[in-house]
Amino acid sequence: MITGLDHVAIAVTDLEEAIARFAEDFGIPLSGREDVPTEQTSTAFFPLSGTRIELIHPMDGQGPVAASLAKRGPGMHHLCFSTDDIVADMARLQAKGYRFLSEAPKPGAHGTQVVFIHPKSTGGVLIELAQHPVDGGHS
Ligand code: CO
Repeated sequence: MITGLDHVAIAVTDLEEAIARFAEDFGIPLSGREDVPTEQTSTAFFPLSGTRIELIHPMDGQGPVAASLAKRGPGMHHLCFSTDDIVADMARLQAKGYRFLSEAPKPGAHGTQVVFIHPKSTGGVLIELAQHPVDGGHS
């Protein structure tokens, strides 16, 4: 079951500049940074109103975020719903015809399991589903 808006992700070409914008100009405290090697992505998190803004940047200039920046430039990248059962939600949505970018959930930031729904299935919005570990939760 989808339980909330986990985060909104923004692809950035200059992570330090973007962190300064959100932290200093907008005054939203940076809560942490994390590299996600499975996605070749460096991330920075700004919790706000029970959700988070997540800046995403390619690790080592490669990976899916690098491809997105090359194709579409910087900007809104995806939104993420939290779920309490990612496998069940994936199966339920697949049964309705939704296409996913991977066959099964993969490790994401904060110890989550994540999977992405293809934007062609969702009216052009890349949507991630994330299940947090039972003992964990938000950072
Ligand atoms: Co995400």
